Amino acid sequence: MILRDFFMYLSENRTLNGAAQRYGLKMGAQNVVAGTNIQETIESIKELNKQGISCTVDNLGEFVFEKSEATAAKNQILELIHAINDHEVDAHISLKPSQLGLDIDRDFCYENLKEIVALADQYDTFVNFDMEDYDRLHPSFELMKQLNDEHQNVGTVIQAYFHESVENIEEYKNYRLRIVKGAYKEPANIAYQDKAEIDKNYIKLIEYHLLNGKFTSIATHDHHVINHVKQFVKTNNISNDKFEFQMLYGFRKDMQLQLAKEGYNFCTYVPFGRDWYGYFMRRLAERPQNLTLVTKQVFNK
Ligand code: FDA
Repeated sequence: MILRDFFMYLSENRTLNGAAQRYGLKMGAQNVVAGTNIQETIESIKELNKQGISCTVDNLGEFVFEKSEATAAKNQILELIHAINDHEVDAHISLKPSQLGLDIDRDFCYENLKEIVALADQYDTFVNFDMEDYDRLHPSFELMKQLNDEHQNVGTVIQAYFHESVENIEEYKNYRLRIVKGAYKEPANIAYQDKAEIDKNYIKLIEYHLLNGKFTSIATHDHHVINHVKQFVKTNNISNDKFEFQMLYGFRKDMQLQLAKEGYNFCTYVPFGRDWYGYFMRRLAERPQNLTLVTKQVFNK
């Protein structure tokens, strides 16, 4: 737990983030971040596509306090959408509303999101709104709902650690949803703290959406959950086109390939960009064993 807090603290350190931007992908981050620019990232996506894996691409961004930073992020995402379609790669977009200005001005954020969603819609490209911490949960749901009324290519994430996630999944069952356990530090009055309780609720949400909802993305590295889902879809005659598994770029690569080979839809979450530092530290906070990725990098030069 102490190690987790330490990496969370590092992930939020603005000075270190700035230094990381100047020095490029380091400390093993290149194992879990697909590139610092769009061109490198498209090459990484092509490699995954060759192996039957589709991608959801995230332009990494932290600490957006200025409108100019949000506008720059929007422009980068618009460029990414063009690149995905120019190169005809199998990929869609994941984005964080806070990167597009949610913490600055809600209407400004809406306009940025609308531009992205409208362009993606022209290409028939799906846009997922990643879910951040609790303060941004309802504002993000609201933005998604508003945009989905105009374009039908938007979906979001349900985090199983929230007590209210059962009600949320019922409310949003007609959307394409990614279901995750939840990555942020949330207090006990709103979120389960116990891993067993989170896992139990996670399975419950996945089963609900598979039976009642639109397309389901099961985003986890947990083989217990994956094995359970494989059995559940078989028992309930749920066809493979109703769901996909998702994992993060660079994690459990053998299992990613194996699931794709078994004929399941598989989608890798591909983060890229100069702002890799906070993302990388959060992955270490989540699972300090991920440090082996770092040490491998140090010793296998
Ligand atoms: P968890 O960390 O609970 O691990 C369970 C078990 O799986 C471990 O005990 C181990 O046995 C095995 N395992 C896990 N990782 C392994 C590894 N690298 N190697 C070997 N074994 C491993 N969160 C959020 O709040 N908002 C979001 O929008 C998203 N989006 C998102 C997209 C995608 C594609 C993924 C995969 C995850 C997210 N998350 C997220 C993060 C998510 O909420 C969660 O924090 C992490 O996925 C960690 O939980 P897991 O379910 O992967 O397994």
